[in-house]
Amino acid sequence: MIQVRVPATSANMGSGYDSIGIALNLYNTFYMEESDTIDISSTHGDDVPTDESNLIYQCAKKIYDICGKPLHGLKIVEDCAIPQTRGLGSSSACTVAGIIGANAMLGNPLDQQNILDLAATIEGHPDNSTPAILGGFCAALLEYGKVWSVRVPIADKVDFVAFIPNFELSTEKARAAIPKTIPHHDAVFNLSRAALLAGSLVTGDLKNIGVAVGDCLHQPYRFKLIPQGEEVVKSAQGLGALGAFISGAGPTIIAVVDKADRTYFSRAQMYFAERFPNWTPMLLDCDEVGAVVTQE
Ligand code: HSE
Repeated sequence: MIQVRVPATSANMGSGYDSIGIALNLYNTFYMEESDTIDISSTHGDDVPTDESNLIYQCAKKIYDICGKPLHGLKIVEDCAIPQTRGLGSSSACTVAGIIGANAMLGNPLDQQNILDLAATIEGHPDNSTPAILGGFCAALLEYGKVWSVRVPIADKVDFVAFIPNFELSTEKARAAIPKTIPHHDAVFNLSRAALLAGSLVTGDLKNIGVAVGDCLHQPYRFKLIPQGEEVVKSAQGLGALGAFISGAGPTIIAVVDKADRTYFSRAQMYFAERFPNWTPMLLDCDEVGAVVTQE
């Protein structure tokens, strides 16, 4: 069987809407092999589509079609640790797994650029799929079906604390909430912050993080869809985080924390258990490896 492990991702990171993302050390593992039928299951009884609507199956089938090979059926076993529909890249993980798994089963006809391009095209934006494939902190854009990207090593100075609520928010709904046009000064607000964020994470200049994750392109509209979201951001910052933002399309909130602050996570656990019991804090680090495929 082919085994594909794909990391969670946090896209946007506040200011980098549709263009910045980071891989995190929380993983889904998918086991796949060709079969005569579609046979899809999950190890923890998670509710996953078990027919042709399954995203992993659809992406694998697309790769077989592109390569001109028939796919009669597929056995897939999903071992999922990334919470679904929470803004942590669970659908991107399925897309990437379907592409990479099919590619491995076909003897690797696609190179890494093909994989980046296909994954971002299927997702519609490259900021989850690119770090899911490459690992690390990535800047990326998708133009005419091609991804232009860079994986940038960041200073080992920050942790990420995800505050994961017990409710879901679909990316479709979260994208529909954003206006079609924006004033010029809003574009400048985000452009300057996204550039500052990338530079500050690379150099470890932590004093800039709070202002650099600021955003006016998507978060103000999405907070209306995330009950307690703004209070969670304020509380995460009040507890001492360098900055906090909606992860991807939400509803999870991520705080960037100075690694030197060794008690932040335990303070956050205690505070959230009392004040926000519907939000679970999870301590995460940057994944440096990206998607990995192995053959058993
Ligand atoms: N950049 C995307 C968004 C990430 O914010 O909608 C979610 O898939």
